[in-house]
Amino acid sequence: CQISKKALIGFGVGLLVVISFSLSLEANTATCFLDIFLERISALMMILDAFKSAFLSKNPCNITKEDYQPLLKLDTQTIACNKTLFWSKLKDLVHQYTRVQQELFTLEDTLLGYMADHLTWCGDPSTSDLNYQSCPHWRNDCSNNPGSVFWKAISQKFAEAACGVVHVMLNGSFTEPFDKNSIFGSVEIFNLRPEKVHTVQAWVMQDIGKGPSDSCSGSSLNELKLIVNKRNMTFVCQNNYRPARFVQCVKNPEHPSCRSKI
Ligand code: APR
Repeated sequence: CQISKKALIGFGVGLLVVISFSLSLEANTATCFLDIFLERISALMMILDAFKSAFLSKNPCNITKEDYQPLLKLDTQTIACNKTLFWSKLKDLVHQYTRVQQELFTLEDTLLGYMADHLTWCGDPSTSDLNYQSCPHWRNDCSNNPGSVFWKAISQKFAEAACGVVHVMLNGSFTEPFDKNSIFGSVEIFNLRPEKVHTVQAWVMQDIGKGPSDSCSGSSLNELKLIVNKRNMTFVCQNNYRPARFVQCVKNPEHPSCRSKI
């Protein structure tokens, strides 16, 4: 078969145009990714700076919510309506559950909560460094320490932002699954906005192999129901919510409560 010289030149030029176009597209895409990457790094640096400014060079027993306001202002993450999950006294189970059910978000699944989870931090008035020696314990030393104030401040914001149905997972193996002194019982429940939140759905989970200490019909949950109803929201409660029970059963597949219909 014969290909004319003109057709060959036309094909070559066409190929060059396509190659150079795709190269420039790749270069543009790479620049774009780099821009986004740098933008994110600089946003994280700003968040980190605001976080450190809240407590560095300060008395670790004298931190206030206002110290964290610049940090909270930088946090623009929003959780969709019906997707907020609070919890009390069953930290492991609730986070095992949200690893599987990724449509629901606990505070520790948000940027600020994730950053600070499992950490202890504080400063020292005599230096601008982090205090690596010791920090006050939230329960035994002083309540206005950097950790407690941080968790209360971000928990308040998390609750204020919630909308639709909110969920809370509570520990039915405690005599008081709803603890008025916990962050859920003292901060979050009172900062829900009834004009945005219509229902509080509680899931009371008993540890596998332990008898129930309290359940939806017990006095502790009744106390929560009264608070919720008084704030013009509907309260719904369910014992041993099946999807979370499945998660518990992964580690206890042979337990009778996991072998039978759960
Ligand atoms: N300061 C620091 N840590 C605290 C404090 C505090 N004031 N209160 C509780 N913690 C730690 C404890 O170590 C505990 O293991 O947080 C953990 C959770 O405490 P719980 O009493 O189990 O639950 P609660 O106080 O209700 O906090 C959970 O707050 O983290 C947010 O949105 C999250 O709904 C969740 C709630």
